[in-house]
Amino acid sequence: MDAFRIVGGHPLRGTVKVSGSKNAALPILFSSLLGGNFTLRNVPCLRDVQTTLSLLKQLGVATESLGEKKPSPSKGKHLPAGQGQEWTGLFSISDQGGAEYEAPYDLVRTMRASVLCLGPLLARKRRARVSLPGGCLIGARPIDIHLKSFEKMGARITIHHGYIDAETKGLKGSEIILPYPTVTGTENILMAAVLARGTTTIQNAAKEPEVIDLANFLLARGAKIKGAGTSSITIEGVTDLHDTEYAIMFDRIEAGTFLVGAALLGDRVRIEGVDPSRITSILRVLLNMGAEPIMEGDTITLGAIANPVGTSLRTLPYPGFPTDMQAQILPLMAISKGASSVIETVFENRFTHVMEMNRMGADIEIHGSQAIVRGGSRLEGATVMASDLRASAGLVLAGLVAEGETEIKRVYHIDRGYEAIEKKLESLGARIKRIQEDLP
Ligand code: EPU
Repeated sequence: MDAFRIVGGHPLRGTVKVSGSKNAALPILFSSLLGGNFTLRNVPCLRDVQTTLSLLKQLGVATESLGEKKPSPSKGKHLPAGQGQEWTGLFSISDQGGAEYEAPYDLVRTMRASVLCLGPLLARKRRARVSLPGGCLIGARPIDIHLKSFEKMGARITIHHGYIDAETKGLKGSEIILPYPTVTGTENILMAAVLARGTTTIQNAAKEPEVIDLANFLLARGAKIKGAGTSSITIEGVTDLHDTEYAIMFDRIEAGTFLVGAALLGDRVRIEGVDPSRITSILRVLLNMGAEPIMEGDTITLGAIANPVGTSLRTLPYPGFPTDMQAQILPLMAISKGASSVIETVFENRFTHVMEMNRMGADIEIHGSQAIVRGGSRLEGATVMASDLRASAGLVLAGLVAEGETEIKRVYHIDRGYEAIEKKLESLGARIKRIQEDLP
């Protein structure tokens, strides 16, 4: 198993380019189950993308990597899944029109976002059999809202032996009122509604930029969608979709992770390929803590905050502060002057990284859904364990600013959602290496 070894305290300097968004790429790739062909650019090289491509293959979608092949930046001995292959980020995708409709346990268990195949399979093949995702370390994460919405649209759903069986004689447009603006729930319903008969409205829809990216992509394929990015989306069903070429939006969370890295250790870090208007909640928190970012076109330049001060935040659906950035902001709070507070409102158990950060010298107490950070700590390198994707990124940032050596075990989590993060950080001057973890 891979681990990262980091020697902390080295300044970060230079330019880093943000990759395509994981959470936009996944629904857009799953929408291929709606049929037809298209070309995608800016597809990030991630384990979750590869899991999606494997699942799509089993469901009868052919994907081909196109373009001039360049060696991946991660070519080397200890490669995470998918890196080290030649990756251009350009894909041709075509649904072969087969009868396959099952997403098996082995794939769903490694990636919960596999449930995004439900909506398009129901719409196109009128049938889906998908392993029910279990709980996950960050929370129970049920998918009841997805399932109730499909029932409202005319699907019959049963759950037996750990599988969701869904079928329909044809989905019909409906008014769906979401009890919570679930992100993948909104995307699943949106994809189903594109080929449903009649008009669907989604009230209390998720407003995340990744939902807008999916809607823009489907619009480019001829879907009829209004209101994406607001809490009310209207979709008028069409009979089929046409060919298009589309570039996936930038990864907001990767951009935010580099911003915190720059705020901790930057000697001028230029982050390229960002739309600052999509990350205002992250920028606002950094400004409160004393950052002075310079925005020019699609770049943000930031140096280390000389005297960071603590702040309070609450994770919320977009446009609020993203839960996916909560672990990464904690090391900055830990070294800041004064106290900080983080209230996690999206997931019920997303503080597993805190104990590991405390082992590195942070002073963070958890009270239910609130983390209280006593600032002014000097972090020290330690051996720590990554427990999920964003927790891993938080520990990497803690390791970069800590004194001495940090070893982060189980970094396979980070390969699910960050493209060659250690190579990008190394190019900025960080001392970070991927190593083979010693097995007991
Ligand atoms: N929820 C329900 N019932 C449902 C759906 C959601 O109770 O049917 C609850 C969840 O348990 C959770 C809350 O609603 O407490 C929010 O969940 P949401 O459905 O919005 O999350 P998601 O769609 O499963 C996506 C991202 C996550 C990100 C969340 C919140 C993708 C593939 N995943 O998950 O990304 O944290 O939205 O923004 O888009 C990550 O990238 O590390 C990641 C976890």
